[in-house]
Amino acid sequence: MENSIISFSSEKTDMVSSKNHPIDHETEIISLRPEKFDNYIGQKDTVKTLKIAIQAAKIRGESLDHILLHGPPGLGKTTISHIIAREMGGMLIVTSGPAIEKPGDLIGMLTNLNKGSILFIDEIHRLPKTVEEFLYPAMEDFAIDFVFDKGLHARTHRYRLKQFSLIGATTRVGLLSSPLRDRFGIFRNLDFYNIDELVNIIKRSAILLNVKMDNNGLIELAKRSRGTPRIANRILKRVRDYAMVHSHGEITKQTVNQALALEGIDTRGLTVLDRNYLNTIIKFYNGGPVGIEAIAATLQEETDTLVDVIEPYLLKIGLVMRTSSGRKASYNAYQHLGINHQN
Ligand code: ADE
Repeated sequence: MENSIISFSSEKTDMVSSKNHPIDHETEIISLRPEKFDNYIGQKDTVKTLKIAIQAAKIRGESLDHILLHGPPGLGKTTISHIIAREMGGMLIVTSGPAIEKPGDLIGMLTNLNKGSILFIDEIHRLPKTVEEFLYPAMEDFAIDFVFDKGLHARTHRYRLKQFSLIGATTRVGLLSSPLRDRFGIFRNLDFYNIDELVNIIKRSAILLNVKMDNNGLIELAKRSRGTPRIANRILKRVRDYAMVHSHGEITKQTVNQALALEGIDTRGLTVLDRNYLNTIIKFYNGGPVGIEAIAATLQEETDTLVDVIEPYLLKIGLVMRTSSGRKASYNAYQHLGINHQN
């Protein structure tokens, strides 16, 4: 199981156990992540709600309500959880739905939580059903119910837990069962970032990475970040490498254009997979409507990757439409790919 425990109770950030970090938890990405809400750019309403909830919980001396954060990958679900744990001054335990295979895995974690600890479960929609059922009393009553024997002889034993807060993150809120969804007190959707917000995020990262960028370079990079800070920071590093080798380290619009051409990232930030997805609908399926399974089969990609990673941004910028009979490419998708639109 891949869990990591990070303690925010002292000045030092303490990673007790963390085998095989997922990309999210790479050391360098963590260093670009804001550690306080004061440094967090974007998601204004969510940040406002969370700051109020944190302040109120602290005044009452209680744990924070359980929080569900949902939205496409890379928009800050993990970052926000780290900030919450730090601001609450509690221990943060990071795990994910698929990593918790059986109830024993979850019980082990729950019984080790202290008062005020935060348990962060990424991809919570992938939690096995048998595990999920142990979460209900844990979330509602801070207790776990152990059942001994069956039928007439069945007895339950209630084990009390410390008051903790669960933060669940998911890219697919629709897949969460309603009993689980209903047990979260705070429910927030993270949306794509606008260009101004991305410009400010990139500006901040460039300062932390000690890279020089001019204004046009900044704007160009922001436009190609797919509305996503994680992508902005990733491509900033690629452009930084390119600029170091080709233009004395300074990032301009020209270096952004040249470096991202090498990465296969186009003027709207679309990747090779984004364009293959659109091309499949247009060229194989006559522009759609076509079912997602058929697109996935043609592309030889996982349906989940298309639904979680590729589609949200293409839907957001209006290049694809979801209809009751399947996905359709929009007129703008044809234009973007330079394909003639019949009719
Ligand atoms: N780095 C990644 N996401 C960020 C955000 N929302 N604000 C500031 N820096 C970030």
